[in-house]
Amino acid sequence: MANNLLKGKRGIISGALDSNSIAWKVAERAHEEGAVFTLTNAPIAMRMGEINKLAEKTGSTIIPADATNMEELTNLFSKSTETLGGKVDFVLHSIGMSPNVRKNIPYAELNYDFYAKSIDVSAMSFHKMMSAAWKLDAINEGGSVVGLSYIAAQRAYSFYNDMADAKAMLESIARSFGYHYGKAKKVRVNTVSQSPTKTTAGSGIKGFEDFFNYAQDMSPLGNASAESCADFCIMLFSDLSRMVTMQNLYHDGGYSMTGVSNEIMAKFGK
Ligand SMILES: NC(=O)c1ccc[n+]([C@@H]2O[C@H](COP(=O)([O-])OP(=O)(O)OC[C@H]3O[C@@H](n4cnc5c(N)ncnc54)[C@H](O)[C@@H]3O)[C@@H](O)[C@H]2O)c1
Repeated sequence: MANNLLKGKRGIISGALDSNSIAWKVAERAHEEGAVFTLTNAPIAMRMGEINKLAEKTGSTIIPADATNMEELTNLFSKSTETLGGKVDFVLHSIGMSPNVRKNIPYAELNYDFYAKSIDVSAMSFHKMMSAAWKLDAINEGGSVVGLSYIAAQRAYSFYNDMADAKAMLESIARSFGYHYGKAKKVRVNTVSQSPTKTTAGSGIKGFEDFFNYAQDMSPLGNASAESCADFCIMLFSDLSRMVTMQNLYHDGGYSMTGVSNEIMAKFGK
């Protein structure tokens, strides 16, 4: 169902680790819709080599960058504009990692060095990306920046740990930077609050599988897949959403607006 929605557009897509990654699906769809883009990930994630397959499939150049490192991000934007032949029109931030989650440290006993790392990788990197682009004036007028979030930014989720705080900050950065980038360059900044999705980052959360099933039963449309998330991101990169900015947009099959479902009630029936 390609409609050339991104024909003539250039972009940067971060976070494609393997074919389950949401960013992987976004890259495949962006390619189908006629965009050209560079791919980026942390140098350490490249060792797995999976991203080379995606680069080959989409005709993209890979530019490694640790999203916490301003120098590497500056290089990412300058090399991307050079490689793609002009400023970019869209940027996907699809990055998250918490050492506290990885090491199963409970929320009330967080390791603060790890906490700072979670915030830096999962939230501050969004600011750093846009700041690197801003200083180089690397995004075209009317461009679109999208970050991926989760509803634990608004409500307590017992298992989501310090990632909840990182997502709250990510969404706040979308509003604050969205204001400044909108005023200065008409660049849009939004976050997409996605359903639980079976990826490396998603499955790293304790009890993920049970929660995935719970969310499936709570959502009138069921959980939104990575593929449908990619479709939504394409719409946000396209000119069809040119007046949408500073928003956190739920892409969750109706989960966020559901109080309870018959399926969940049935599980508690006598
Ligand atoms: N999977 C879910 O259930 C779910 C739900 C809502 C939101 N999200 C968000 O979607 C985004 C993408 O995650 P995913 O589910 O596709 O998992 P994923 O594990 O495939 O992607 C996470 C990516 O972050 C990258 N990354 C980690 N540290 C980095 C760094 N320092 N610099 C650059 N890149 C770095 C990883 O290499 C990886 O490619 C994340 O922000 C995640 O929080 C995921």
